[in-house]
Amino acid sequence: NKVVLAYSGGLDTSVIVRWLQETYSCEVVTFTADIGQGEEVEPARAKAEALGVKEIYIDDLREEFVRDFVYPMMRANALYEGEYRLGTSIARPLIAKRLIEIANETSADAISHGATGKGNDQVRFELGAYALKPGIKVIAPWREWDLNSRESLMAYCEKHNIPVDFSSKKKKSPYSMDANLLHISYEGGVLEDPWMGPEEDMWRWSVSPEAAPDEATFIELEYERGDIVAIDGEKLSPATVLERLNKIGGANGIGRDDLVENRYVGMKSRGCYETPGGTIMLKAHRAMESLTLDREVAHLKDALMPRYAEMIYNGYWWSPERQMLQTAIDESQIHVNGKVRLKLYKGNVIVEGRQSADSLFDESIATFEEDAGAYNQADAEGFIKLNALRMRIAANKGRKLL
Ligand code: ARG
Ligand code: SIN
Repeated sequence: NKVVLAYSGGLDTSVIVRWLQETYSCEVVTFTADIGQGEEVEPARAKAEALGVKEIYIDDLREEFVRDFVYPMMRANALYEGEYRLGTSIARPLIAKRLIEIANETSADAISHGATGKGNDQVRFELGAYALKPGIKVIAPWREWDLNSRESLMAYCEKHNIPVDFSSKKKKSPYSMDANLLHISYEGGVLEDPWMGPEEDMWRWSVSPEAAPDEATFIELEYERGDIVAIDGEKLSPATVLERLNKIGGANGIGRDDLVENRYVGMKSRGCYETPGGTIMLKAHRAMESLTLDREVAHLKDALMPRYAEMIYNGYWWSPERQMLQTAIDESQIHVNGKVRLKLYKGNVIVEGRQSADSLFDESIATFEEDAGAYNQADAEGFIKLNALRMRIAANKGRKLL
């Protein structure tokens, strides 16, 4: 029997490799993906080899991640609980999909991951895996073993001859972090007290708004069917778009969030997030839709958005309900084409202009000046009277308000 492990090359998942080999006496296949976490993935090969792994997968999934996961989510303007931009949540379904593909290629009968039994990530990995391969076995070491501290993990390494370069030199971050092209997240450490603010040096991708340049930065984003296809007139791939926006946004102090969220398993958790590019994308996409979407389509989309965000947060990317909503959302984007002009300044994303060949904005109707008969103001009288009809009836019958 064989198990495919989502392997970062770090301490935890290296211990998992050995633990799987010993506990289940199985062949371990490792899978390490570059999804834009900003760390080299190639070193994971030597580390896996040193642990006796024979089948090692290292994939660059950056384009697929942004094209097939981040972009579709952005079309929905997804935000969880009004604040969280879902950076970790949206990467998990892709990892789950690759784990299953690799399980199929290597005839493995199980997958494994390094998520704890307390969090959302375990749910996301496993719901995805079961949806894509119903008979797959799942091994979640954190739910089984008793290596619950860094010390016990280190002791395990020593005892089992796991070659660690993790131990000494590099000072370990005091936070539990997860990074990809969309965001970097921080949990744990001092953040476990919701009253305590993080140290400034926790943040890795952005400067503070105070330290951002005094000169504003201006950019122009071009949209096709709800997706950004160019920045300042330069056509760019989805991953390149996000990379650029992260740089520009981070340099202007954009995209920091500090929040308490409700995990699917039932507990509240405090997290800090840096999502510079995603913050710009969300603001700009809404500006593009404001010009091009029909009102009722826009409002219906907005009503469904929290449900859609919840599906992603809770791990139901690979579900019929998410697919159903995605189809509707994608359909709504046919006319979401054009350009948005933005000013980025000390943590703010300010829309300065929007333009579209598919615009529904009609200046000849909206104008405060003479409108040449396109809109007859007298029509408004009957419109309002009929809308007031039921309220007038109720008032006539003596119904009281307040
Ligand atoms: N709380 C966020 C979420 O549920 C971030 C999770 C971070 N995951 C991690 N393995 N550090 O999406
Ligand atoms: C974990 O518990 O592994 C990370 C946090 C989460 O999944 O919510």
